[in-house]
This record gives sequence, C-alpha cells and structure tokens, in this order.
Amino acid sequence: MIRKTFARAIVATALTASASAFVLAQSTPAVLTIHADQPVSKVSPTLYGLMTEEINFSYDGGLYAEMVRNRTFGNDWSGMQHWLLVEDGDSEAAISSDKQTGPSEALPASLRIDVKQADAQNQAGVLNEGYWGMPLRPNTSYKGSFYAKAGSADLGAVTVSLVNNFSGEVVATARIPAIATEWKQYGFTLKTGMIEASAANHLAITVGHAGTLWLNLVSLFPPTYHDRANGNRIDLMEKLAAMHPAFLRFPGGNYLEGDHIPERYQWKKTIGPLVDRPTHPSPWRYHSSDGLGLLEFLEWCEDLKMQPVLAVYAGYSMAQEHVDPGPNLDPYVQDALDELEYVTGTVDTKWGAIRAQNGHSEPFKLTYVEIGNEDNFDKSGSYEGRYAQFYKAIKAKYPDLQLIATMPVKDTRPDVVDDHFYVRATKFFQDATHYDKTDRSGPKIFVGEWATREGAPTPNFGAALGDAAWMTGMERNSDIVVMAAYAPLLVNVNPGGMQWETDLIGYDAMRSYGSPSYYAQVMFSKYLGDETLGSKLDGAGPKLFYSITRDSAKKRLYLKLVNASSTPQPMEIDFAGARLAQMGKLISLTAHSTQATNTLEQPTQIVPIETALDGIGNHLHYTIPGYAIQVIQIDEQ
Ligand code: AHR
Repeated sequence: MIRKTFARAIVATALTASASAFVLAQSTPAVLTIHADQPVSKVSPTLYGLMTEEINFSYDGGLYAEMVRNRTFGNDWSGMQHWLLVEDGDSEAAISSDKQTGPSEALPASLRIDVKQADAQNQAGVLNEGYWGMPLRPNTSYKGSFYAKAGSADLGAVTVSLVNNFSGEVVATARIPAIATEWKQYGFTLKTGMIEASAANHLAITVGHAGTLWLNLVSLFPPTYHDRANGNRIDLMEKLAAMHPAFLRFPGGNYLEGDHIPERYQWKKTIGPLVDRPTHPSPWRYHSSDGLGLLEFLEWCEDLKMQPVLAVYAGYSMAQEHVDPGPNLDPYVQDALDELEYVTGTVDTKWGAIRAQNGHSEPFKLTYVEIGNEDNFDKSGSYEGRYAQFYKAIKAKYPDLQLIATMPVKDTRPDVVDDHFYVRATKFFQDATHYDKTDRSGPKIFVGEWATREGAPTPNFGAALGDAAWMTGMERNSDIVVMAAYAPLLVNVNPGGMQWETDLIGYDAMRSYGSPSYYAQVMFSKYLGDETLGSKLDGAGPKLFYSITRDSAKKRLYLKLVNASSTPQPMEIDFAGARLAQMGKLISLTAHSTQATNTLEQPTQIVPIETALDGIGNHLHYTIPGYAIQVIQIDEQ
C-alpha cells in the first residue's frame, strides 16, 4: 500500500505542471505486456554516436578552443575581419594585408602593421575581437603564440595583452623582448588574476616604437579537455561525454564535399604543424582554420572512447560537380587509401610514419568508412560507378572494413547504407515503425543524420518528443540499424553563428547548454541494454511509444516510455518470465508545453529528474504524464 502511494506520488508530482492534463487523463489503461525471458534481437552497442562537421561555428568558435578569430589573415574573402587597429594616445599606425610575405608555403601572406609613431605609454598595433568575445576566467593561464617578423631590430618589444572591453583594464599581459627580421614563432602565457568571468574581452598586440611588424597564425588557448595542446573546450567535451557516444562520424556532411571540388575536405592539408595548414573555405559560408584537422578528430575519438566513422571524399561536390568513375577518379581513391593508412597504418607504412611524426604513433582502430555524403543529390547518377571503384580498391587492401554507401546502389552490395531524416515531430510519430519491416538480409542501416527540426537555434520539447519516439523505433530495430547520429550537433547561438536551425547543443564563448533533445539522447544512450525483449502494447493512444531492452550482464531491464500527447496515459505493465525487484529507478524528462525549451539564460529548464520508483515487482500500475520521456530501470532478482 505504502509502495503504491509512493509510486502515485511521483506521478502526481510530475503532473502538477498541468492540472488540466490530469483531468483529461485517459480513463482506460493501456496494457503493456513484457516477456523478460524472451529476447527478440540484439541491440547494437554502437547505436548512439555523434555526427559533426564545420557548421554553425561547431569547431572554429565552438569545440576547438582557439580564442583568436581569423588567426591566419588568409588571402580569402574574409581578409582581415575581426582585426582592428589600436592607436593609444598620439600613436599612429596603419594595417594592411601583405600577400608578399608569410611564415610558410601554406601561409604565404600576413598582416602588416606600419607604426609611424609610438612610445612605451602610447602603443600602437592590432586587436582581435575573438569569436564573439574572448572568454576569460579568474586565475587562469592562457597559452599563446604568433609568427612574426620585424622590419628592423629597432622595433623593440611586442606587448600582448588581454583587455576588458568595457573597463579597458588590462587583465593579463606578456612581453616579447625583441622580434627578429626573419619569420619566427614566439610563445607567451597570459595569466588572469581575480577577475570576473566574462567574454567581453579582446586580445591586443602592440609595440612602443615606430617600425614595421608582420604577423601570422596568432593563437591563444584556454585550458583544454585532457590538457591537449591545440585541444577542445572543456564544457562542450563534457556534454558530449555525457551522451556516451559510441562513434564519431566526421568530417561531414556537406563539409566533406565542399561546394566545388577544390573546396572539398582535403585531409592532407589538415595535418602536421598549424603553420603548414593552408585553411580552406567551407560550404557553410565561413572559412575553416583546419586547426581541428584529421588527427585532432581522431584524438577527439580517443578522448571520448568513441570509434571513428570516417567519411572519405568520393568525387562529388555540391555545385553538381563530379569526377567520372575510371582513371579520373583514381587519384581520389588513392587519396582515400592514403587516409586509411594514416588512420590505421603502423609506423612502418608511409602514412603511419607521418602520423607518428605528427605525434601519434599508435594506429587508430577503424571499422566503418563512409564513401561520400548524400550522393543522391548528384544528378549525374555517377555514384553507382564511383562507389564501386572506391569499394573495390578499399576492400582489396582492407577486407575487414565495413563500407557505407550514402544511397542505395545496385551493382555493388554495400555493407551499410546511410539514411538521413530531417522532419517535424508529427512525421517521426507516424514513422516510428519505419524499420520494423526492413529486410534483415539487406545491408545494415546507418541513420547518419536525423533530427526533429522544431525550434531554433536548439530543439524545443516538442522536438524532443519526436526524437524520442523515433529513437524507440531505431532501438527496437537496432539489429539492422547499427548506428544513428543526431545532426547537427553544435551551434554557436550568437547572431550570425547559426547556418542550420535545430541543433542539439547551444553555446556562446563562455557558456553552453543542452537542449531537451540533448537530454533525451543522454537518457536513451545511457540506458541502452544489449537485447530487445518480446512485448505487446494494447489500448494506448496513438502518441505513446516505448522500447524495452535488457542488459544481460547486469540482469537489468530498461523500459523507455514516450508520451507525446498532452494527456497522461494510465498503464498496466506486466512483466512475465522473470522475478523483478520491487524497487526501481525512474528517469523523467517532462515539460508543460511542446514549446518549452532550454536556453543559455535558462539552461536547465528541462533536465532529466531521477527518482526511486517503488512497488514494481511483476506488475506496475503506472501513469505516464502528458509530454513525457521516461526510462524505468528495474533489476531482476
Ligand atoms: O546536417 C546539415 C547538413 O544536412 C549536412 O551537412 C548534410 O549532409 C545534410 O544535408
């Protein structure tokens, strides 16, 4: 009796949000019968993973912790964006883009600063505004560097400072005593004191003497995840880690393809010292620093214990440009083979040795390789031939690799086919059975991009309901759906930061938050199980979805319930074939409206709440609230 009261109390608490919904509760209970002793299919251990690309300032101005924006003053349309002249007091200077000199072949140009007049008190130079500010925290060290060249030794010292935008206060400073007349790299550390954490800061690089200074690759990093040099933002990595991702699909998406063939993702230009990376224009309308290059992707996998799902460029770029299968495609196939060797080769291979030189002698484990991206958009119909050519060459050298096709192909049988879904919640409710009847003898399925697109910049609770309903279907069918990844993953929510609406995790320079859909993912991924169980649902409303899995090692059941209706749903849940504990755990994500959401200002409006659930045993009389995504965890006795 007491136990039941406890269980009811939980339901009532969840309902205080919506008294009217409580009144409108369905009167007839739905009956869910679960056969705990009847495993139906295996749950793929790699079901939930991440998909990323450079979009919405995902890396530059996002995960990649670099604080200096447009650090290489490239010869592209971005010119000297985000750099401004500093002229303190009566100092005088001019800045220009110099195409004649730079620190490397990859970076042949530079920013030239001609200082006509300056002294120690009245310095002149440049400032960088960062990616919508420079996030500074108290008592923190920031590691910086730049490449520079002086017109003559008379130029003297260079001062590097972090300055508060509002007070003008210098919150950290360092001095480089002299600059050589040949290109050289200089390092420095900027340490803040007892400041208030804020993003309203900029970086200033100034001199106190007339003369000329050339700069390139100006860089500044805060502390990073796992303390990696050239590493990632800690808060975002922690959010990703909480998703328990099994894999990372990279580098795209459209970012892999580029608008035009020369703008494709050229992995060889993203490895090695930063000064040897030329950067490139991305299809998402901003330039990519390529600071997060191929090795950094792989190290990101290593940090979060994910397996890489590597997409190789397959001869199609989005402006309907393609490379004909045959000899013209051979160099691209070879490039992919080189890439696979870079990832998996031992140090006695050419590209394995280069990877070791770049700082990682251990080869990475690779199982899945995707050939291209969304090649159904290639109107020439060349994918059939392109896929076959890549497939044959890769399988000849790496027979164990699982090769993913980006659309169905006829002449070659792919190991896996990648399906993409960007829809409204209603569509996912209707389509949650999408894979129920898929031919099990066919290629496996990778749902490489999917999302309910409702809410901007990040999904609202209505979208989370659509996502959760869809996930119950993928989970039920994860004997065939081996991997799935929400996309896009990241968005910088500052004005101009977003190119694609409805992204899982939002942030600015300083803060980040998970959307309701993010928390739905965390719940589904954390409580996965390894086998689905036999079950039957009768008498439920059309917007009730569920998935029942079991962790065979832990002897534990996970019942995921999704009520996408505003009306609570009473349920009689019977567990047959096992003795279950009386006490379980309820993890609940609920909201009062489909429009409810999280934001930077209110990051935890909608988060999972965990409570004990008593009185389970082999029969649970339970009401799932309206607008709810829940997991019930129960141990077998
Ligand atoms: O996720 C955004 C874009 O959607 C991807 O780059 C592309 O693959 C898809 O069309």
